[in-house]
Amino acid sequence: MGRKPRSCGLDFPAAANISHAINTATDCGFGFVCIPLAHPNLRRCANDQSVPVEKSKWMRTDLVLGANDWQVRVIPRVSSWLDLDSPNEGFRKRSEEVFHQELAYAHHLGIKGVLMDLRRRQNNNLARHLLSKLSSETSSYFRDEVWLQIPTSSRKIAASSCRNDVPEDDDEDKDDPWHWWDDLRLLCASNMRLKVALEVTADLPSEEKLSRWFGEPIEVLVVPTALFMTNKAGYPTLSKAHQRFIQKCAAREMTVLVTGGNRHASLRHYVQYINHLFQSAELPPHIQCNLGFEDNLQVPLQPLADHLESFTYETFEKDPVKYTEYGNAVYEALIDRVPESEKETNTQVVMVVGAGRGPLVTQTIHAARKANRKIRVYAVEKNPNAVVTLLDLKKVDWGDIVMVVHCDMRKWKAPEKCDILVSELLGSFGDNELSPECLDGAQVFLKDDGISIPESYRSYVQPIMSMRLYNETRELKICDKPYYYKFEQTYVVAQTNSYWIAPRQQLFEFIHPNRNEVIDNTRFKKLKFIASEDSTLYGFTGYFDTTLYKDVMLSIVPDTYSRGMFSWFPLYIPIMEPISLKKGDPIELLFWRRRDETKVWYEWCVQRPTTTGIHNINGRSGTIGL
Ligand SMILES: C[S@@+](CC[C@H](N)C(=O)[O-])C[C@H]1O[C@@H](n2cnc3c(N)ncnc32)[C@H](O)[C@@H]1O
Ligand SMILES: *[C@@H]1O[C@H](CO)[C@@H](O)[C@H](O)[C@H]1NC(C)=O
Repeated sequence: MGRKPRSCGLDFPAAANISHAINTATDCGFGFVCIPLAHPNLRRCANDQSVPVEKSKWMRTDLVLGANDWQVRVIPRVSSWLDLDSPNEGFRKRSEEVFHQELAYAHHLGIKGVLMDLRRRQNNNLARHLLSKLSSETSSYFRDEVWLQIPTSSRKIAASSCRNDVPEDDDEDKDDPWHWWDDLRLLCASNMRLKVALEVTADLPSEEKLSRWFGEPIEVLVVPTALFMTNKAGYPTLSKAHQRFIQKCAAREMTVLVTGGNRHASLRHYVQYINHLFQSAELPPHIQCNLGFEDNLQVPLQPLADHLESFTYETFEKDPVKYTEYGNAVYEALIDRVPESEKETNTQVVMVVGAGRGPLVTQTIHAARKANRKIRVYAVEKNPNAVVTLLDLKKVDWGDIVMVVHCDMRKWKAPEKCDILVSELLGSFGDNELSPECLDGAQVFLKDDGISIPESYRSYVQPIMSMRLYNETRELKICDKPYYYKFEQTYVVAQTNSYWIAPRQQLFEFIHPNRNEVIDNTRFKKLKFIASEDSTLYGFTGYFDTTLYKDVMLSIVPDTYSRGMFSWFPLYIPIMEPISLKKGDPIELLFWRRRDETKVWYEWCVQRPTTTGIHNINGRSGTIGL
């Protein structure tokens, strides 16, 4: 189930009386209005240079609304005739002045963001002015945002009376409005206070081109009333393609703006229809579990080097899928190891290593009861605080069949060998909580024909476009570290504001028990992806899946996701600088897993189409303690 848009607003291309416009809008169920900042009767034409900009009267007084209404009920629009890239110098200069004047006034009103049209690819001078306005830390404009209205597909725009015409690009590719935005935000160093107001057009581009917008910071979704058809009952409705696209938007937090005149019985019906579309959207399972956590970076847990806390264990233990699947795996393994005829005589030794607060022990006991097999369980845990819980559970619940052992599994001298070794030491990337190293230590007490649950796990990577994640990384406040430090970590993050540039590929695999003569958990692999569309690479997403036993699996890879599971969010693996890609470009990623006496770490690098240099060399920034 989706959720409502943040708010739904109504566009007034000319509103002489703002309070009146707000009343009209709220009567129809809208939350805000969008109006040009300049009063319609005081509109200044660019060619009229008789009055200097700062002397011209153009704006209504701020007293027409209370400060709170300005902030909550109004999204202002910058005058549409402005052209900061006009070839006519006088026009350009006047546009610059008016642009700064209007932004200053929006700031004075305390309004968070203003809307501005983007009409073509050439916006270099606009970019400079935007960046200068938005990027200076000392400026009081630091909190303001500019939302650029961009259509999903380009159309010829009728020249307005005030505008000088600019020659259009004829190159079809350049006419893809995504490029208008991409060029501008790269010039503006991916500044996150520039966002997109995406205008849905009648003819939509390909699905791939549409999904690409989900990698961009869409603040507003602009829906023209002209898109609506009329159903049999006389109500507005959208084409199937438009419905599909808007329902995909419902996974992200967005504001909706309805533009254009009323073409149906009441404007109210547009709001109702859009709310309905959002709320009835079926979200894919890997997005469903994100709600409330979107795009918040977390540094991955290190359950080996640190002791997990009560809250963390409790959060894990609420997962409705993970423990059930572990239970199923133990059940299958017990059935396979003990034939029906031996069920009274054969007692299986199960060791749960890294038992935490015991949920896998409980699952194991349930599985044995269900399989009608006898077991003896060792619960091994190194965290002394979790051991308190384990001892208590043994006393009140499990009884004598469970032995609690407070020990590091890599050093434990087990009194006997086990039939089944159960563990969950997996991170979002499979091996990144050092499951391979821990289980290599523990497998010495697994019988030669014993079973490890999990029996294998694999990591996957996928190139990603997400200005949002890049910003979150770049803007992290970390003291006393060099600039590259933040870009040489991996982050656990629920990724909704993202576009995946190419299908995911498998990176590393680990298999347990590892019976190789020499155990080597270092890895190196080169992967080659092909960009599905022109796009900008901001890093990679990392996922894992695991085979617990035979066909019992857990996965956080979107196309095989274990529905309902929320124990793991994927990883974001950043790169220092974004890389521009053309459709069909190769993306070559080099990835290493390395270790020394005390730690394990990853190193990575994009080599093609351009090279980033190797990130995290020698684990200089991000490492996982052994
Ligand atoms: C991800 S938690 C899983 C806890 C519990 N089994 C569950 O599924 O809710 C991993 C647990 O393994 C423990 N652990 C990690 N490495 C260990 C080691 N080398 N020896 C013993 N315990 C370890 C951690 O303290 C932590 O409690
Ligand atoms: C950019 O990242 C910083 C740091 O996490 C965050 O505080 C800020 O809100 C982000 N900017 C936007 C516009 O999302």
